[in-house]
Amino acid sequence: MTYGCQMNVHDSEIIKKYVKECGYDFTEKIENASLIIINTCCVRESAEKRIYGRVNFLKKFKYLNPYLIIGMAGCLVQKDKKALFKKVPHVDFAIGPQEISKIPEIIKEARKGIKYIGDFKEREFIGESEKGLIEHPYQSWLSIMKGCDNYCSYCIVPYVRGHEISKDYNIIEDEFKYLAQCGVKDVTLLGQNVNSYGKGLEENINFAELMIRLDKQDLIPRIRFMTSHPKDFNEAIVNAIKNGKNLCDHIHLPFQAGSDNILKKMNRKYTVNEYIKKIEFVRQELPDAALTTDIIVGFPGETEEDFNQTIKLVQDLRFDSAHTFIYSIRTGTKAAEFEDQIPEEVKKERIKRLIDIQNDISIEINKKLEGKIYNILVEGRDKNKTRLQGRTTSNKIVVFKGDDSLIGKFVDVKIIEGLHWTLIGEKINV
Ligand code: 5AD
Ligand code: SF4
Repeated sequence: MTYGCQMNVHDSEIIKKYVKECGYDFTEKIENASLIIINTCCVRESAEKRIYGRVNFLKKFKYLNPYLIIGMAGCLVQKDKKALFKKVPHVDFAIGPQEISKIPEIIKEARKGIKYIGDFKEREFIGESEKGLIEHPYQSWLSIMKGCDNYCSYCIVPYVRGHEISKDYNIIEDEFKYLAQCGVKDVTLLGQNVNSYGKGLEENINFAELMIRLDKQDLIPRIRFMTSHPKDFNEAIVNAIKNGKNLCDHIHLPFQAGSDNILKKMNRKYTVNEYIKKIEFVRQELPDAALTTDIIVGFPGETEEDFNQTIKLVQDLRFDSAHTFIYSIRTGTKAAEFEDQIPEEVKKERIKRLIDIQNDISIEINKKLEGKIYNILVEGRDKNKTRLQGRTTSNKIVVFKGDDSLIGKFVDVKIIEGLHWTLIGEKINV
């Protein structure tokens, strides 16, 4: 079970690889499981509550099957450490995000009834190898860095995922080639702030250069990246996408708040104007690119005027979509100590206003795509299994009727209807 961001989804793939190596198969039914690992998130309190609720729910399965092993991994474990066992004593092992390579050893011990709690040390090496991690045959993640040194004042990530470390280019290239050989056609370069890739490496390389080099390999037709930080996002990255052949035109650039006062208190290190200039450059150079963002509502001290500036930015910049979050106090972060916390009702009312405005914009943008033809990489069936699902280069999800033989192929699809999150299309017969 995975909670949280792409980094966690990717870590879960690594965990699954280890679990498989230990001889386990996977089941959808909890009652059939002999091992359950929950990969956790703590970025907001809501995730934390849901996870503890879930782990408590699993207790009854331990009564039904005393041999059942329950493990927890990820950021929430790193945050709560030993205190976690007080809340969920039935858990057999708990490890932080930097020690998942120990899983095979820990499972062996757990089978003997030995409990294990992680050492929570920061590890200097970069994650796990991407080799042998093909979960989806045509789409894959490739982590290029780990950790974060930005210390945005609201965010727990630097405390649980450790310092920022970039992976050597040679290793990335090797893994990239491996993924291509495995048939991957769409790869996402992953990191908390991929734009600052290269810091601390012996080789003089930055993110734009990394993208240019991978693009030149011409081995994987769709290369994406996630996630960016406006302070490090630059023209060289936009130019690389513009001049590249395989670099996708989707940019996820979280702005978090539309007021300079709040950005300063958030320790984001850019101004609203600087952000706008970067978006204007993207629009000028990549007019068809999709732009998405993250926004936090109700950060301590956010006045109605500050919030209206966030609304104005959303209205002016017209993002394709936005992830909107209610500010959540994270103990240990700087913002948790701020005294001017915003009441929950005010936060809820503000986020509702913001979501309504963004939803209208998303639909308007997607409606304008009706009649256009896009090349889609078909990734599989949609949730209801009735239609095929794939994505445009700009990361828009498109569903359309077709048979399974198209999975893994590129297909031209005409958009019939633009909805809020997805586009409904029909395959063009050539
Ligand atoms: N409260 C609310 N949202 C947060 N995020 C990170 N920390 C918090 C927090 N304490 C959001 C940011 C980030 C996204 C992944 O999660 O918008 O970009
Ligand atoms: Fe958190 Fe800021 Fe780092 Fe993103 S850049 S992970 S928001 S501290």
